[in-house]
Amino acid sequence: MDIQNIGIVGAGQMGNGIAHVFSLAGYDVLLNDISQDALNQAIVTISHNLERQVSRGKIEQSEMDAALSRISTTLKLEDLGVSDLVIEAATEREDVKNAIFERLLPHLKPETILTSNTSSISITRLASRTDRPEKFMGFHFMNPVPVMKLVELIRGIATDEPTYHALLKVVESLGKTAASAEDFPAFIVNRILMPMINEAVYTLYEGVGSVKSIDESMKLGANHPMGPLELADFIGLDTCLAIMNVLHDGLADTKYRPCPLLTKYVEAGWLGRKTQRGFYDYR
Ligand code: CAA
Repeated sequence: MDIQNIGIVGAGQMGNGIAHVFSLAGYDVLLNDISQDALNQAIVTISHNLERQVSRGKIEQSEMDAALSRISTTLKLEDLGVSDLVIEAATEREDVKNAIFERLLPHLKPETILTSNTSSISITRLASRTDRPEKFMGFHFMNPVPVMKLVELIRGIATDEPTYHALLKVVESLGKTAASAEDFPAFIVNRILMPMINEAVYTLYEGVGSVKSIDESMKLGANHPMGPLELADFIGLDTCLAIMNVLHDGLADTKYRPCPLLTKYVEAGWLGRKTQRGFYDYR
C-alpha cells in the first residue's frame, strides 16, 4: 500500500513533533485535536522548530515552507478517514485512546494502518478493541521528535508482517532508525529509562543528593545530555508516573514502585516544564 496521507490525533508535544517530521519528509499531514488553541499552538511550535533547523543550516527555507504547506489541521476526527496511516498521540490514558479509536474506526478505509504512540500501554490490548488488530501497531517516537533518531516499533500479538514492513519503510523514509520491541510493559526505552529517572527521584527523596548534584553527576559522570530530573521535567512528571505505574502493575515487581516524591509532585500539579514547575522552577 502506498502511504502518503498521515492522520495524527493529538497536537501536543508528541503530535506536533510527529507532524513536523512527516511533513518534512514529504507526507501530507492532517493534524487533529479537540482544541483549536492546541492546533494553533502546534503550528506555532512546528514553525519555530523548523526555523531553528533553517537557522542551523539543517534544512533550506524552501523545505520549511513546503513542509508547512503540507500540514492541515482539523477539529473533526472523521476527517482522518482519508488517511493511509493514523498515529494516535493523545493523552496517555487507555480509556481516552479506546474512545478515540471507537469514534474513528467507522470512518477509516479498510486498508488504513492504525498506530498508537503510546509509551507503555499494551498494544495487544489496544488492538483488540479495534476492527483491525492485524493492522495495528505501536509506533513510539521520542521527544523531541525532530531530533531523536529512534522510533520503537511494537507489534501486538495479531499484527501482520505487511503492516510491520510498511512501518519499517516509513521509519526509514523519515531518516530515523527503528528498534523492534516486543509488547511488554513500557517496551525497551521506557523500561530502562523510567526506572533510572525514578531512582534519581529516590536519590533526592532520601537526601543522597540535591537536584543540582544529581543532574550534574549524571551529565558529567555518565555523559547524559540532560540530568535525570531535568529530563523528567522535560518528559512530564505525570507521564513518568504513569509509566512507572504501568511497569509496577504489569510486571508486579516492587523494584518498579514509583517514588512517593514523584507522586507528590504530580498531586501538586508540578508536572515539569509544561506547568512551569517540576524539579526546577521555570517561572
Ligand atoms: N525541533 C528541532 N530541533 C531541535 C529541537 C526541536 N524541538 N530541540 C532541539 N533541537 C535541535 C537544536 O536546534 C540543536 O541543533 P544543532 O545540533 O543543529 O545545533 C540540537 O537539537 C541540540 O539542541 P540545543 O543546542 O538547543 O540544546 P541541547 O544541546 O541541550 O540539546 C536536547 C537538547 C536534544 C533535548 C538534548 O538535551 C537531549 O538529547 N536530551 C535528552 C532527550 C531525551 O532523552 N529524550 C528522550 C526522552 S524519553 C521519550 O521521549 C520516550 C517517552 O515515551 C517518555
